Amino acid sequence: MSVAASTAVGGRTIAADGVLTLVVCGIAKSGSNIRSLTLTDPSGAPLPAYIPGSHLVVEAGGRRNAYSLTGDGTNPSEYEISVLRVPDGSGGSRWLHDELDFGDELRVLAPRSAFPPVARAAKHLLIAGGIGITPILSHLHAARRWGRNVQVLYTHRPDDAAHVDEVAALSGGNIEVFTARAAFMERLQVVLREQPIGTHLYVCGPAALIDHVCESAQASGWPASRVHSERFGIDALDPGDPFLVRLTESDRTVAVPSGVSMLDALEADGVSIPNLCRQGVCGECRIPLSGGTAIHRDLYLSDTEKTAADAVMPCVSRAADGDILEVPL
Ligand code: FES
Repeated sequence: MSVAASTAVGGRTIAADGVLTLVVCGIAKSGSNIRSLTLTDPSGAPLPAYIPGSHLVVEAGGRRNAYSLTGDGTNPSEYEISVLRVPDGSGGSRWLHDELDFGDELRVLAPRSAFPPVARAAKHLLIAGGIGITPILSHLHAARRWGRNVQVLYTHRPDDAAHVDEVAALSGGNIEVFTARAAFMERLQVVLREQPIGTHLYVCGPAALIDHVCESAQASGWPASRVHSERFGIDALDPGDPFLVRLTESDRTVAVPSGVSMLDALEADGVSIPNLCRQGVCGECRIPLSGGTAIHRDLYLSDTEKTAADAVMPCVSRAADGDILEVPL
């Protein structure tokens, strides 16, 4: 029999593996394919605070997926996420849409920050595509709390708008909504050029939109340090360059081709590594790193852990240019 250790914090019980068990206390429909869930502690205890733009890793239908929290993160008694139904996805979103009901329990990992607002920014230009509005909504809640200057561009398919009224209210009406790609592209070029010095740009949405916005900002002279993006999922990552992994314990070297994850390459070579999401969000595949410089592309390790450079998530991360990663396997 195995017994999981746990810790009581502020009346709430957090398992030793960092998992919180919450209960669904609200369900709402936003757009035709978006389901918004409100989660709370079963005992009513306060939940861990989080930085605006953080995400929650949710166990859904045997997988772990990351979803942006939409609140401002200060003293939360509830967590709110909005889930886009992905018919041909891995099944997590379908489970959250079709199986989960009011009053059900849901296991989540404590919030992680990957897309925080810069407090010293003179202005926050917030750009969202589709379900990418969710971390932007979190930024807007914080912006209102702190009286920050914001401007929002939101582009979405005609039947997939989410939180538009809330975003309009929080931005003080300083929002432009687009359902036609050409109109958004045209307006983007103008907006990028007319920002006051010290503005920071945040973009979240499909990979193609993020790439276009970031490239347009660069072409308009924005320094990279003032452009921030949030990407979810393996599909949003580029295939990367080929590299080598040195297995120091077994004295072997494994080649990782472009477009193949380190996890896939190691498994193909007979190395078994526990994993769940294969998207850099659940933390299950974490392995020690004993040499080489990794490009960390996961949403699991904190900035401090990434700087420490002693662990890597092989499902998404790769070696820095020309480097060989060493792992004690
Ligand atoms: S399998 Fe989930 S982070 Fe790698």
